[in-house]
Amino acid sequence: MSYWQEKIKIGNLEVPRFIGGPLDGITDSPFRKLVRGYSKEELLYGEMRHVACVANDRGRVKALAFEQLERPFTFQVSASKTEFIKQACEKIVASGVDCLDLNIGCPARNVVKSGAGSSLMSDLPRLKTILETFRSSLEIPFTVKIRAGYKHQNAVDVAKLIQDCGADALAIHPRLQTQMFTGSPDYNLAGLVKKAVSIPVLLSGGIVNWTTAQLAYEQSGVDGYLIGRGLWSKPWKLHELKENAAGRIFKPTDEEILGCSLAHLDSMLDYYGSHGLFAFRKHLPFYIKGGSDASAVRAILVRSVSVDEVKEGLRKFFTGENS
Ligand SMILES: Cc1cc2nc3c(=O)[nH]c(=O)nc-3n(C[C@H](O)[C@H](O)[C@H](O)COP(=O)(O)O)c2cc1C
Repeated sequence: MSYWQEKIKIGNLEVPRFIGGPLDGITDSPFRKLVRGYSKEELLYGEMRHVACVANDRGRVKALAFEQLERPFTFQVSASKTEFIKQACEKIVASGVDCLDLNIGCPARNVVKSGAGSSLMSDLPRLKTILETFRSSLEIPFTVKIRAGYKHQNAVDVAKLIQDCGADALAIHPRLQTQMFTGSPDYNLAGLVKKAVSIPVLLSGGIVNWTTAQLAYEQSGVDGYLIGRGLWSKPWKLHELKENAAGRIFKPTDEEILGCSLAHLDSMLDYYGSHGLFAFRKHLPFYIKGGSDASAVRAILVRSVSVDEVKEGLRKFFTGENS
């Protein structure tokens, strides 16, 4: 069996190397269900939620509402201190997820200001107590997503601490917080992290197709790959990568993309009610791409308040009726 066909072990889970990464506002339940139309066994991340928000939830944390078919599913949280971790873990485990991921890579200003996200990478004593609290509150697999560092690179030290505190795997997006999403992800650093620990190391950043996946492997030798923006409005991407790794080509037809976009909109309306149409606007520009009239169609549809108009616009775009 080739490297690409082998599965990786994260605690008691065995999953393919290509994984659906976390994208807040994008990888919600409707999107994950769409991905499942193509990929049945791949691990899928959800969207980050703060432990206090989960612990104090009275049924309003939408992110905890998911369907069995979305599993294997990993729920991602952020935290700045040990308070609320235990209560949040109890609720998350009770919801039936397969894995819990702590995000200490988030660069967002409001998150780091509150002491959560990537700022935790600059305070290892505080990070250690947080990691220990998670580990002792969880019997399901526990993973951590990191960056290259906060202001300075220290991913190798952080990775060792994560392993020592009993995590089952870690994912690295090898850019500093100060880089946000700019510059190239440092795959060599991911390779150094891989060499420093024995738990599985997953790599996030810049993997959008088979060529970039192979490059990431060659330069880092990691165990698994989180597909982030490459998955955005391309629910077939994990399947495409799996097919490519087996030497086959996969390219969805326009008809198939149209079917996906319509199913996506319907699923968002089901899940979010009428707000689903507004939430779908984040996906529209990614579906309506290419062709001379794409920008004009996009401009109309992202402002539309009519489900029928958006559906009709999508149909016309993909069947070429606009041109
Ligand atoms: C819109 C958006 C939302 C994101 N939300 C999350 C999140 O909730 N949790 C997380 O760990 N990373 C989040 N990320 C970071 C991605 O998971 C990933 O690490 C980063 O985008 C690099 O990978 P990519 O090049 O495959 O997108 C987000 C990124 C984007 C662009």
